[in-house]
Amino acid sequence: MDNFSEMRNCTIGDKCEIAPNVILGYKYKDWSIPAIIGDMARIHSGTVVYSDTVVGKRFTCGHNVTIRAECIIGDRVVILHGCTLEGKITIGKGVKIMAHVYIPSRTVIGELSFIGPGVTILNDRMPMRKPGIAGVSIGNNVVIGGGATIGPGVTIGDNVFVGAGALVMKDIPSDSLAYGSPAAHKPLPEKFGKRNDPEQIFTGLDLWNNTPDDGSWRNEDFFGKDRWLSDNNVKKFQ
Ligand SMILES: CC(C)(COP(=O)(O)OP(=O)(O)OC[C@H]1O[C@@H](n2cnc3c(N)ncnc32)[C@H](O)[C@@H]1OP(=O)(O)O)[C@@H](O)C(=O)NCCC(=O)NCCS
Repeated sequence: MDNFSEMRNCTIGDKCEIAPNVILGYKYKDWSIPAIIGDMARIHSGTVVYSDTVVGKRFTCGHNVTIRAECIIGDRVVILHGCTLEGKITIGKGVKIMAHVYIPSRTVIGELSFIGPGVTILNDRMPMRKPGIAGVSIGNNVVIGGGATIGPGVTIGDNVFVGAGALVMKDIPSDSLAYGSPAAHKPLPEKFGKRNDPEQIFTGLDLWNNTPDDGSWRNEDFFGKDRWLSDNNVKKFQ
């Protein structure tokens, strides 16, 4: 770990690679505890992580990402450049967030989900008119296509695929395909498979992160692992 960054109000794990010009544990007005960053994080320049936020191990983070306070980010999460995560967000293990995504406060995202580039998530139905923050809840093994917008208070179930550019203003049940504006949904066609491929989720980090896969994710728990193992012949992974 180098020490070029100016602000390090954080507890940082082992074997982290933190670029110059990264702020960890940014002290906002009401901060109470330093940020916590897990082992083997790779954080590129220009990123700011606020105090009171906890990040799991093997975090991969691109340039110019803002992660505000009281976020809980699971292990093996990947966030590409230019994303904004407002405070009080929970993100599950192995979630991949592509570039230029906006995630407002009170959003919850389950495990192994993929958020495409330029996705916008909202949390306020009538801003400046009626108070009421309603966070979005996104399940496990979800794919949100590029440029989609997810409206305030929407719940998206597990194993949902949302098409590029969709405008999702109503809940989407598990195992659905949704697309269009406003989005309509139907049962997920078989060609989409049963889940996001854990191998792609955990090993395909990004072009600029060529860390070889040490296979350790295979020994860890993640959503749907038992079914994935039985569907893929357990012997292959022993
Ligand atoms: C929705 C999606 C999954 C396609 O689903 P599909 O069932 O294979 O659909 P098809 O390609 O067979 O198209 C079926 C119809 O839906 C339309 N359609 C496809 N994707 C659409 C979308 N995102 N929004 C609106 N209509 C769409 C097609 O034009 C076609 O219309 P037609 O029947 O009038 O010709 C895909 O188009 C998509 O949006 N993928 C997300 C890609 C992405 O964002 N990747 C991010 C990482 S780069």
